[in-house]
Amino acid sequence: PLPKPFGVPLPVPPVARPVRGEGGADVYEVEQREGRVEILPGRKTTVWGYDGIFPGPTFAARSGRRTVLRVRNSLAVPTVTHLHGGVTPPESDGYPTDLLLPARCSPGGASRARDSMTHDGMGDDHAGRISIGYRTYEYPLPQRAATLWYHDHRMDFSAPQVWRGLAGFFLIGDEEEARLSLPGGDRDVPLMLCDRSFEEDGSFRYPSHEHDHPAPGHGHDAFPDGVLGDVQLVNGAPWPVLEVSATRYRFRFLNASNARRYRLRLEAKEGTSGRFVQIGSDGGLLAAPQSLATVDMAPGERCDVVVDFADFPVGSRITLRNTAAEGGMRDVMRFHVVRGGRDDSRVPARLAASFERLSPSAAMPVRVFDFRRTNTGEDGEDGGSRQLWTINGRPFDARTVLASPRLGSVERWRFSSDFHHPVHVHLAQFQVVARGGRPPAAADAGWKDTVDVRPYEVVEVLARFAGYKGRYMLHCHNLEHEDMAMMANFQVV
Ligand code: C2O
Ligand code: CU
Repeated sequence: PLPKPFGVPLPVPPVARPVRGEGGADVYEVEQREGRVEILPGRKTTVWGYDGIFPGPTFAARSGRRTVLRVRNSLAVPTVTHLHGGVTPPESDGYPTDLLLPARCSPGGASRARDSMTHDGMGDDHAGRISIGYRTYEYPLPQRAATLWYHDHRMDFSAPQVWRGLAGFFLIGDEEEARLSLPGGDRDVPLMLCDRSFEEDGSFRYPSHEHDHPAPGHGHDAFPDGVLGDVQLVNGAPWPVLEVSATRYRFRFLNASNARRYRLRLEAKEGTSGRFVQIGSDGGLLAAPQSLATVDMAPGERCDVVVDFADFPVGSRITLRNTAAEGGMRDVMRFHVVRGGRDDSRVPARLAASFERLSPSAAMPVRVFDFRRTNTGEDGEDGGSRQLWTINGRPFDARTVLASPRLGSVERWRFSSDFHHPVHVHLAQFQVVARGGRPPAAADAGWKDTVDVRPYEVVEVLARFAGYKGRYMLHCHNLEHEDMAMMANFQVV
């Protein structure tokens, strides 16, 4: 039986503490391990969590201050940690073949892992930078305040490993944001939305029996649209409730689902609804707030909003709904206004003076990335033809580079699609300039690193390649599509 909605309080992940600050850096240690947690009332679920919890601890970092994350892998499988939205040097970016092997890995494990990465003819040079036991990720964070997240990115296995819990928040703050008097403290709440399914005994159900050892890239062929769950979680709790005072709250929505999309609405009594004041997107604060009745989010996207509960009488119950879903999955969570309160927060009409709007110029290089399912006749393994999720007609190949933008340049990238593909670009932040030949939608506002490309639509963005030279990737953030090789390299030169 599924838990009844709005029966458990919203958990908020703990904020990690650095083990030390050294030479201008904050050093954190985190261990990937199994944990037994109560997600469904009265049952235990084994999660694969950073520090054994799901979501993992929240890292609270400062713009321009180096954060060092020392990850120990005490699981039984290789992992990769990617800081989504991070302007990160390539060796710390969590490239899918830069594996962190388990601490208890047998001596033969490393070469076996290397072998497993040489499928599809990938040469040894492309086998990735392998670490055993622990790995140190360096995040210099030369970027604005923003809501980032970190999650597993292991080649062919991101979807089942994130499903089991390897994801958490990484928040960057800066002075410009601190000066604004936005709601803070316990009125600044990260909300990780994701769906999961469970077995009778409380364990996660991921619909691939062999998901520890599928043939590479074949793991999810039976789920062309990606895997959906039938329990909606917020911060790892099913349909939770948050008691609030009649004041402003800042909610940092993250769609951490493998494949589910959200159209969020706030519904009070029959027929009355609340509004979201959006203040930020993937890449931080907008130039000015925008008031929205609905918030659309594809996997990987973040949306930073303020909700003013003074608009509702004390005693109100306001339900956050996902109107893009069916049945019980239309409920997400509930807010219960339990008391009045003093509020000296505000949302100024100008948020980020530093926000720089890019505009297209004829001098910018134009590149096209076509995301679609391609029929291939030449699949040897099962003899028949297969369908592959491809970019520009090819599945991921570590040796192929589709674009070589110059460091510091801005390029016009066009994404086209046969289906819903949330397109995510590592390293670069971008601004959407056109969607389907029209001006961008509300959900496209601000600096982005992930954009939902809808069926048969072309989305044009201006992407700035700042930070570092090296090899990075773009890919579909439907995690099953990603594992089915819908990824490509670009090289910043
Ligand atoms: Cu959030 Cu390459 O991923
Ligand atoms: Cu996709």
